[in-house]
Amino acid sequence: MLKRVRESGSRPRLAGGRPWVELCAGTAALTFRSRGLMPPAVYLGSKKKYAAALLEILGEPEGECYLIDSGLWPAFYRAVQTYGGDAVADVAATVPMGKPGFMAIQRAPVPDDPVVRAAYFICLQQGAVLGKAVRIVEGRWKTAGYASLSPSAIRKGFRDRLNPPVLAEKVRALDGKLGGMHFITADVRTYEPIDNAVVFFDPPYLGKTGYGRMDPTRPEVVQIAYHWLDHGCDVAVSEGEPAIPGWNAIEVTKVTDKRRGKQKHEWLSVSWPLMIEVPEPRGSSARLGSTRLESRLVRTIPLSSLRRPR
Ligand SMILES: C[S@@+](CC[C@H](N)C(=O)[O-])C[C@H]1O[C@@H](n2cnc3c(N)ncnc32)[C@H](O)[C@@H]1O
Repeated sequence: MLKRVRESGSRPRLAGGRPWVELCAGTAALTFRSRGLMPPAVYLGSKKKYAAALLEILGEPEGECYLIDSGLWPAFYRAVQTYGGDAVADVAATVPMGKPGFMAIQRAPVPDDPVVRAAYFICLQQGAVLGKAVRIVEGRWKTAGYASLSPSAIRKGFRDRLNPPVLAEKVRALDGKLGGMHFITADVRTYEPIDNAVVFFDPPYLGKTGYGRMDPTRPEVVQIAYHWLDHGCDVAVSEGEPAIPGWNAIEVTKVTDKRRGKQKHEWLSVSWPLMIEVPEPRGSSARLGSTRLESRLVRTIPLSSLRRPR
């Protein structure tokens, strides 16, 4: 059992580990993966399929985890922490299956009760088209609509996206498992950095479907990344392209369709130098410094050699 200590300010730290931060955390897919947990619902831009590769580079979280997002996920996870996954799951399980359940929740005012609100949020998020972010605007739920199945998908045997009993079991599985995680509803453009943290920053992709008015611009992303670096942090920023001028960038791949061999790529810009051992034919090894790596070369290097130096 690690000993809890208090350092400057009111932020608790675990002795023996650097704080771990996800900025624009959404479902907190990386932190969850490191603990063998699964975010319970789909989410546009989730790092679920990149998580293993990203953890290979960043290393596993060793200290307290701070998961910061301006959307509705932090409040959902806080409800699970405070009232229990079972309480939230019990309410979610009562929602009618498929589109009728989705529409009934969406039409009604947003509930004040945090447990009911969390349960309804996760149902809407699971049912939303393409996993687009569910929001609350002027006291009403705002979604991209229900992810209805096409007639051919129904013929092929695909199931309705919103299946409350199945979803409820996924929420229940989080019960008592979210210790050491701080789910913070905040704007990353103004949140003060946590000194000496390991930071994974996953802003909305530039030019793609966004999450709302607070989405940071590219200059803001660069400014935030450097601001955390100035506080002694190791910072990694994921984007569809190398996003931070002057930093190394590593191309990371996820498999989207195993059967057809389809992949997607994104870039992780990292604030630390990459020192890579590249084996040479005669058994000796060459060292590559902190220059920007050619993506062609990066593709030939196992991710395990691109680890953040500790
Ligand atoms: C690409 S998604 C992150 C996905 C996340 N890594 C995951 O695995 O679920 C981008 C996130 O940025 C959040 N976001 C957008 N603007 C923000 C801001 N100003 N402050 C905090 N979070 C913000 C959105 O709510 C969204 O969850």
